[in-house]
Amino acid sequence: MKIGQKSYTTIWELDESVIQIIDQRSLPHKFIIEDLLSTSDFEVAIREMHVRGAPLIGATAAYGIYIACKEAALSSDFNSYLFDAAARLKATRPTAVDLFNLVDRCLRRIEAGQDAKEKTTIALAEARLISKEIRAHCFNIGLHGVSIIESLYEQKGDTINILTHCNAGWLATVDYGTATAPIYEAFKRGIPIHVWVDETRPRNQGARLTAYELGQEGIPHTIIADNTGGLLMQKQLVDLVIVGSDRTTRTGDVANKIGTYLKALAAYDNNIPFYAALPESSFDWQIRDGVKEIPIEERSAEEVRYIQGLDDAGVLQNVLICPADSSALNFGFDVTPSKYVSGIITERGICKAEEASILKLYPEKA
Ligand code: MRU
Repeated sequence: MKIGQKSYTTIWELDESVIQIIDQRSLPHKFIIEDLLSTSDFEVAIREMHVRGAPLIGATAAYGIYIACKEAALSSDFNSYLFDAAARLKATRPTAVDLFNLVDRCLRRIEAGQDAKEKTTIALAEARLISKEIRAHCFNIGLHGVSIIESLYEQKGDTINILTHCNAGWLATVDYGTATAPIYEAFKRGIPIHVWVDETRPRNQGARLTAYELGQEGIPHTIIADNTGGLLMQKQLVDLVIVGSDRTTRTGDVANKIGTYLKALAAYDNNIPFYAALPESSFDWQIRDGVKEIPIEERSAEEVRYIQGLDDAGVLQNVLICPADSSALNFGFDVTPSKYVSGIITERGICKAEEASILKLYPEKA
């Protein structure tokens, strides 16, 4: 996708020793490219949210495994170095299942290598393949998901208002995004659309990142405070909700950024279609009950107590927004039970949020 007139993906190789990412912490105010050179650089980048969004976390960790292989080749015990690095990468964030799915996939492939050199070569090929696949999956999510927007437009004959939460855009994947892919495709096809962008406290991924990328692509959008969506739905100003997912169970329960559940409840009450868009890597095939079983990340209370923005001198500042001695609680995600999800948009097609329908698209997981 574009920044200025230049096309970017969110992660790429400068050369075989340096992986580059966009440091998302300073967007939209500054565009900073960061070099990742060591396993610990990858750990910090994921934990501290230089990169974020479930598929991008997975793609970054896959390159982290490749860099870990290069380091392991210089150690006395390749396997124990690699497994320790994999465990450290997996410990960075608990909810986005792509991290675990894709690190494990890399480790399985690497096993086939006969020596450190061959294992490292396999790791690089796998990291490249994963990025390529995520990009292709997101593109296909767009091709499938656009049919929902097209049919709403056929019925309404006027601008389609889509509400989204957090950033499930290209910045959260490798390219195109998940929730945004059908939006980009609809825009490309000339369907009049407008996007309501939830600001998404506490880290404001909606206001900072979704608004930024929609703006770069020229897509009409309006940022709203997180609590506004319900009113807009009652006023029939929302035609469709599309969100991403950090982990979706085989039964269709959807974990996504905190606040998603409340939007799903409001959409349900107002008869508004609520879709989750996600690639295969964001499914957790092992669990059935998302509310009980999906681990919910708890982050620092300081993310709630402080807010970041640009001051008049153009300097990024963190400012305290509450009494200095008040405590705060900061859960990163919530789970929307499948009964509130109208459907799941995947790279293989659209299915109902129920096991049989999901498995029709992924029969190999039955
Ligand atoms: O904490 P973040 O910014 O990593 O959370 C991201 C989200 O919740 C996204 O909506 C989700 O990962 C889907 S991304 C395609």
